[in-house]
Amino acid sequence: MQSTFNTYKEAPSNIAIVKYWGKKDIQKPLNPSISFTLSQAVTKTKLEYFEGDKDLSLDFLFEGQNKGSFIPKLKTFISNIKHLLPFLNQGHLRIDSSNTFPHSSGIASSASSMASLAKGLVDIYEKLGHSHNNRNLLESEIARLGSGSACRSTQLGWTLWGSTPLLPNSSDQYGVLINDTIDPLFNSLQDSILVIRKGTKTVSSTLGHSLMNNHPYQQGRIRQANSNTEKLLKALNEGDFNSFAEICEEEALSLHGLMMSSSPGYTLMAPESLKAINRIKRFRDDQNIPITYTLDAGPNIHIIYPKEQSELVVPFIEENLLELCEDNTVLYDQISMPTTNI
Ligand code: PMV
Repeated sequence: MQSTFNTYKEAPSNIAIVKYWGKKDIQKPLNPSISFTLSQAVTKTKLEYFEGDKDLSLDFLFEGQNKGSFIPKLKTFISNIKHLLPFLNQGHLRIDSSNTFPHSSGIASSASSMASLAKGLVDIYEKLGHSHNNRNLLESEIARLGSGSACRSTQLGWTLWGSTPLLPNSSDQYGVLINDTIDPLFNSLQDSILVIRKGTKTVSSTLGHSLMNNHPYQQGRIRQANSNTEKLLKALNEGDFNSFAEICEEEALSLHGLMMSSSPGYTLMAPESLKAINRIKRFRDDQNIPITYTLDAGPNIHIIYPKEQSELVVPFIEENLLELCEDNTVLYDQISMPTTNI
């Protein structure tokens, strides 16, 4: 008898401190990266799998609406993961996804959506009676094949992805949790996101990564990321916020520097991004408090600080930075750790 299997999974977005930029083989990183997951920016995915003998067919709904335009991307993803989940050769799969954050908020949803989808697919695989060696690693590996950074969103907290001699269990195939090596100072981080521009990215991350293939600074970047990985692990372990901030900003500005010096080059910051960075630095000098910032491959600024600084930082944002944001939009988010309910 052919049966139906259902599941429902959630996964958060993440923000990288050491950035993944450039890939090799099938979605493997040129360098290790380290990120933490967020609390508020989450994708929820319902899956229904109908057993069948014919080649797999797919339905994809986003926020209740049929999105046929996503099907080609999903088909590529599924053909990349069939060797891990052979049930995806046949039957029918219905995916129904929604985000807790607005689509046009400038927040990328690929990490949270691919991570929640990967978790759901592994759940169905188990419900079909299959076993595997390690659920966490399999979920992360499958998420990676959908979107590289998604492999850092299948578990909560701090994750390192990419092979490095610094961490014997690290791998290019999946992310590994490093929560047990983190000083408590870094377990309460806030991420206040200045939405400088809403809407989708001007340069897709696929294009951005490919620009690293022939980049004149490729080898230097790989050295820098490996060195920053080592320094960041030490800073996280020792509760050293000053070193954390130095690495965080160097990584963000290097990512943008790499984009500017690509061929062709791209400027992904907006004038308001630079104004915000300067105001944050001035505020830090005046108040002498732990606060830093990072950016992904776009103009939005993630302001990062320990929770106990919120009383000072939130009024500073409201009074000095809101005017730089599109429609005055700031998303107040924070780290999600395994004890946090999402
Ligand atoms: O996972 P992708 O292919 O969308 O790449 C993400 C790249 C950055 O967000 C810029 C950095 C990172 O490590 O998340």
